[in-house]
Amino acid sequence: MTKSLRANYQAYVDTFRRPDGTLGDMLELKLRHTMRVVSNARLIAAEEHFAEDERVAAVDAALLHDTGRYEQLTRFNSFNDATTIDHAALSHDLVLRFGWLDGRADAQAILDAVRLHNRKELPAGLDRITTAAAQTVRDADKLDIFRVLENLVATTDWRTDSRAFWNLPIDRQPNPRVLSAIRAGESVDYSDILSLADFVLIQVGWMISGLYYPVSRRLARERGHLAFRRKFLAELGAGDAAEQVCRLAACEFLC
Ligand SMILES: [Fe+2]
Repeated sequence: MTKSLRANYQAYVDTFRRPDGTLGDMLELKLRHTMRVVSNARLIAAEEHFAEDERVAAVDAALLHDTGRYEQLTRFNSFNDATTIDHAALSHDLVLRFGWLDGRADAQAILDAVRLHNRKELPAGLDRITTAAAQTVRDADKLDIFRVLENLVATTDWRTDSRAFWNLPIDRQPNPRVLSAIRAGESVDYSDILSLADFVLIQVGWMISGLYYPVSRRLARERGHLAFRRKFLAELGAGDAAEQVCRLAACEFLC
């Protein structure tokens, strides 16, 4: 990561600090998430033997991917894109406006990777560097989202208060539409998420068809993310169909 970019990013984040120097819990979590996504991106670039130009673009795009989260929370008091603003588009617009990438040959690749990081699918025809940056950010982001869910399960009283999980009911069976989309390797429509089990199953679906690089699937396995979800779904009483989806993911890991 270029030093000046890191300094620019840090200075921007600092503008959201309170008089006592803290960011507040929600923004602090986003900053930590971002730094973990950067670490994941570095791992992916190293293990996939990226060319130097791909590595730099991927790591810088990881740093910038959620730039808009600070303004989103400050303006709307919410991270819910559906009811506020597309935070990836906002991140792209801010980075462009600040001129942080001006003069760099890979500026457009990084901006595109930032703008596309939350899309269901990437458009066809992206060039080599954009593809590396975009796919890396998407994998690195998901790998940290796995960690975030496990952290929330461990630290919240989700049985009585599922605010951390969109207030989804905890005792409802998985939506058959979610199960069949995952089995077919298709992306799930967020409007089909009707239960906590669906929320967890979507992440199992990422392990089947949502991680682009082999190293990302390996990291997910090594970090125990599938095992955690399998156990948690059993705890939720999500049933045999959910277990079958977990088995599919386990098979994907072995293949
Ligand atoms: Fe994001």
